[in-house]
Amino acid sequence: MEKLVLAADHGGFELKEFIKKIIAGLGGYEILDLGTNSTGSVDYPEYGQRAAETVVSGQAERGIIFCGTGIGISIAANKVKGIRAANCTSELMAEMSRRHNNANILALGGRIVEPELAKKIVKIWLDTPFDGGRHEQRVAQIE
Ligand code: RB5
Repeated sequence: MEKLVLAADHGGFELKEFIKKIIAGLGGYEILDLGTNSTGSVDYPEYGQRAAETVVSGQAERGIIFCGTGIGISIAANKVKGIRAANCTSELMAEMSRRHNNANILALGGRIVEPELAKKIVKIWLDTPFDGGRHEQRVAQIE
């Protein structure tokens, strides 16, 4: 079972809850939910950092993080060495973030992406492997 970490601030809380149910329904994933667990205001950098550290430490293989726009929490997650967090608003972005960038975290904006589109984005992101090949050296250059 692949381990996935989820984390959100208040702006991403509702979408996190929706996506958590979708992933549970897919089967094959163990979910580690770091919160937040309400719409009460919290600071997205803390949640982005915790999710990122969960991935780089190997406690989860990949992560999905949420804030209002997906921007702040992805910026925070990308400060952690080894993280390639991609804030995606389309299925093509999600697919390419895996194929070319080997993104290990997907970021979604709860105030940007409608739940049905988010569901499609998550599914394609989970299912798409890294292409490797010429993209290996570019990803290595990021590190
Ligand atoms: C919180 O109001 C909001 O700033 C946050 O969810 C996110 O959109 C930041 O990028």
